[in-house]
Amino acid sequence: MEGIKLILLGPPGAGKGTIANMLRTERGMVALSTGDMLREEVKNRTQSGRKAAEYMNAGKLVPDETVISILKNRIKEIPPNTGFVLDGFPRTAAQAEALEDIFRELGVSLDFVLNLEVPRDVVLQRLSGRRQCSGCGEIYHLKNMPSAREGICDKCGGALFQRNDDREDTVETRLTAYERQTAPLIEFYANRGILRAIKADVGPAETFNEVKKQIL
Ligand code: AP5
Repeated sequence: MEGIKLILLGPPGAGKGTIANMLRTERGMVALSTGDMLREEVKNRTQSGRKAAEYMNAGKLVPDETVISILKNRIKEIPPNTGFVLDGFPRTAAQAEALEDIFRELGVSLDFVLNLEVPRDVVLQRLSGRRQCSGCGEIYHLKNMPSAREGICDKCGGALFQRNDDREDTVETRLTAYERQTAPLIEFYANRGILRAIKADVGPAETFNEVKKQIL
């Protein structure tokens, strides 16, 4: 599985970040989350971060040019023959096309697109209870995946926080953006023969087993 290149597709709260972190920990893959990259830009008050914050807080997609340029720089830093997983990118047809150009430029090819399938009620339950570590980015859930000590990361001892965009009204906007702008990519990748459906409304370990079966 060395050098494998994956995309994780799925609605907000489907578990993309959780699976990406498992692939990083267990398989040594580089996990690239455009959501985490953008939150970092916002935290550092960069020019891109200031522009992105208003879209993110409203639950809307950040403009393609901003996200494509951030992701392109990060992909180029990955050492050759190292596997990587993209979490949250691409999210529009323009991003999917830009990614094909980036891969062509780097001389690498995409192996699989894993589509995490989760019904809406499960997504809402997952987002409302999500907590994330401010230090290492580890993802928890108050009920499904609690930390051993409340509010403290098991891995690095960092403080856990609730994301701004996990408020109920913002979640609705994010789900609509997903349906309109991102869900059409399922067909785009199915037509390329590399889409794999993952039943992800089960626990994290079972979902991860399914992922491993699909990419072996
Ligand atoms: P981003 O951070 O990418 O958010 P998202 O796609 O909405 O996805 P989430 O991070 O909310 O969910 P996830 O699928 O990773 O689930 P997780 O593993 O955390 O993007 C945020 C914003 O940035 C966007 O709205 C947009 O503004 C901007 N943005 C980012 N990328 C962009 C792009 N390419 N273009 C334009 N704008 C972009 O799990 C959720 C919860 O469920 C957790 O609590 C977890 O513990 C729990 N959980 C996970 N799996 C399971 C399981 N199997 N069973 C039980 N609980 C589980």
